[in-house]
Amino acid sequence: MTYTNPALTVVSDEVTPGALRWRSPSNIALVKYWGKHGNQLPQNASVSLTLDAAATDTTLHYRPRRETGAGVDVTLYFHGKVNEGFTERTRRFLEGLLPIYPFLRQLSLRIDTTNSFPHSAGIASSASGMSALALCLVSLEEALFEPLPNADAFFRKASYLARLGSGSACRSVYGPAAVWGTVSGLPESSEEYAVGIADRIHPVFQSYHDDILLVSRSEKSVSSRAGHGLMEQNPYAPARYAQANQRTREMLDILRRGDTEKFGQVLESEALTLHALMMSSQPYYTLIEPNTLHVINILQQYRRETQHPVHFTLDAGPNVHLLYPDAIAEDVTRFIQDHLLHFCEDRQYLADRVGKGPHQLKVDETSGV
Ligand code: PMV
Repeated sequence: MTYTNPALTVVSDEVTPGALRWRSPSNIALVKYWGKHGNQLPQNASVSLTLDAAATDTTLHYRPRRETGAGVDVTLYFHGKVNEGFTERTRRFLEGLLPIYPFLRQLSLRIDTTNSFPHSAGIASSASGMSALALCLVSLEEALFEPLPNADAFFRKASYLARLGSGSACRSVYGPAAVWGTVSGLPESSEEYAVGIADRIHPVFQSYHDDILLVSRSEKSVSSRAGHGLMEQNPYAPARYAQANQRTREMLDILRRGDTEKFGQVLESEALTLHALMMSSQPYYTLIEPNTLHVINILQQYRRETQHPVHFTLDAGPNVHLLYPDAIAEDVTRFIQDHLLHFCEDRQYLADRVGKGPHQLKVDETSGV
């Protein structure tokens, strides 16, 4: 599929200034994407639950540009202040989209963005941030040209654009869950965009909580980009990609059946496999910390004692995500407060849940975050 369209240009004088705004959540991968090829294409399929509270609220302001330059004219404000680093990254992303959206050169853009979670929370904001921006861009296309044929086409295009900004962001445009990568038995699935799987999720998983234990709030020492790159030489890579594809199919079946035990087995093995891949890269590196392992050990003991279906996963960092159904939320909250906060930096954790996906906001509305 290609969205390249040289015809999408505007007559600057005819553009009325305007703004568009979306709130888009983060997501947590159950089967991990780790390793890519080509232009941000995944080496294996992945599946995620979409979060709710951890989200980015982005407003894209546009007006005609006085003189069209070679690149894109954009300034990004993060929590009300110009952010040079994010502006640069966003400019590169938007310039990469020029074959799809040539009109971006003809506008002056200002992006106002805020995250609902603290900047130093150790939570990657690229999934929520890039998906919120991609949704604003597809809304901008609709404002300047024609509406896309239907909601499916709208979100598919947003997912495609988000993927080009940050791979895992393509899964954030759908709640409560999404699949990215080609999966047999899922005819719409693609490497180029994610697809929503709302109609294949048992109610128990729609009720799931994700409590994120902030073992460390520091920036990670090795970026995801470098991590994906190191997979190219990893001797386990071919076996890993086959395993992840197989596990994506298995996880889809688990999500449909509502099997919380099997869910936990695959979930936890995926988390440890991701970190084992980092430890078996050359050069190797570690992102988990001693407190990550303490939390895991105490969780396993709690599970043995209570038989509660509460399981962990990890992203590319030391923080531990605890996933569990709403029915046991009270017990798990008490367990976290009594036994796990001790291992968290400043005793901090974020309580999140599976969410319904992004939504568009009025530009002058408060986002409620
Ligand atoms: O989207 P990226 O390039 O930041 O990669 C994210 C990879 C993981 O978060 C570790 C796994 C995933 O599938 O989200």
